[in-house]
Amino acid sequence: MSHPVLNERNVLVIGQRLGPVAQEAMPAARLEIAGAERLDLPETLHDAIELILIDVEAVDAAVLTGVINALAQRPNAPAVLMAGGHLPTALVKAVMRLPKSDFLEAPFTSVDLGRAAAAMLAEAPAAAGAPHHSRCWTVMGSVGGCGATTIAVEIATELARRVGRDRRVALVDLNLADGAASAYLGSTPNMLLAEASATPERIDQALLDAFSMRVGAGLDLLACPRDPKAFTRVSAMAVCRVLEVACQVYDHVVIDIPRHHQAWTLDVLAGSDEILVVSELTVPALLAARSLAAEIEAELPDGAQPRIILNRLASRVFGPAPSLAEAEKALQRKADGGVTSDWEAAAASANLGGAISQHRPRSKIVRDISVLVDRLMAPANAQRGRAA
Ligand SMILES: Nc1ncnc2c1ncn2[C@@H]1O[C@H](COP(=O)(O)OP(=O)(O)O)[C@@H](O)[C@H]1O
Ligand SMILES: [Mg+2]
Repeated sequence: MSHPVLNERNVLVIGQRLGPVAQEAMPAARLEIAGAERLDLPETLHDAIELILIDVEAVDAAVLTGVINALAQRPNAPAVLMAGGHLPTALVKAVMRLPKSDFLEAPFTSVDLGRAAAAMLAEAPAAAGAPHHSRCWTVMGSVGGCGATTIAVEIATELARRVGRDRRVALVDLNLADGAASAYLGSTPNMLLAEASATPERIDQALLDAFSMRVGAGLDLLACPRDPKAFTRVSAMAVCRVLEVACQVYDHVVIDIPRHHQAWTLDVLAGSDEILVVSELTVPALLAARSLAAEIEAELPDGAQPRIILNRLASRVFGPAPSLAEAEKALQRKADGGVTSDWEAAAASANLGGAISQHRPRSKIVRDISVLVDRLMAPANAQRGRAA
């Protein structure tokens, strides 16, 4: 059946295999059928194109992610319908930034394709220039105990304070076996990811609501109950799906990620807008941070640059701790932020259950986190430099 809403519409079809199905699905549309090379110059995708149908198997995922990111910047971005199989998280995140996008899982018929395309073009235009853009920041420690969880908790709390009640922030603890975020926040971990791993496609907003715990105004925690076998029981699909849905539901997603690589680690890092590598000011931690940052840069294809955050900086340096200049020499790069040491505030808040900003709002940790969040929120082209 042909849908009248598709008649005379300008549709670009990428992938020769998809051509005949599209012709059958929308016989009266103005179709241009092309191969993947049509996407090589995204600027030639003119504004008259209303819908782009893409066979995801016909196009390199990294190229496609770049094209989608470029389209999402446009004031009149076309609707995009992805047809095919598994999509990497970075691509899904890019697609989510478009005002109108959808996925059609293979196998599908021309009827399915026509229905999905018609639904997209029939929709009222999205609210003027306001696609949902969630920001995802991932925090990783260079060594155990250097403060990654503390910093992730404080960043998430500070974001929730800033954005107010109506826009939502999630802290996702991916230390699946023994994450500490729920204990630090005095909350209950409720994300049953091992159980959800059998049917990851069923992870949706409703399930995420059931998994999440409200830990203060505007902040939800997604954390797993303690389970020593969690890393073998939870599938990569389930982790990626939770993050996809979280990025649709929340405006900010902060991830506390273990430093040992899991099957999903690179997917999570590739889908993150910022990667924060936390280190303390000891030589072993600095050397580990340097290696970790270099490994991330080598493994992520599109020029990701992790930021180094130095934690537990002493106001006065006691004993043989490296100075900031020495630390940066060991790191072979500049640090992007620093958090002062305040054991009393950190321990008291963890013992009481809640953020340091809640129990010790005047701690220097809170001030330093606020400076860091300012820096991360600055426009993407802001110059990088060392925190004051
Ligand atoms: N800036 C800081 N000042 C003082 N203590 C801190 C600071 N950051 C973290 N801590 C403390 O260090 C310990 C380890 O922190 P945690 O965040 O659990 O590290 P990680 O997640 O990297 O293992 C905790 O007792 C925490 O309260
Ligand atoms: Mg931790």
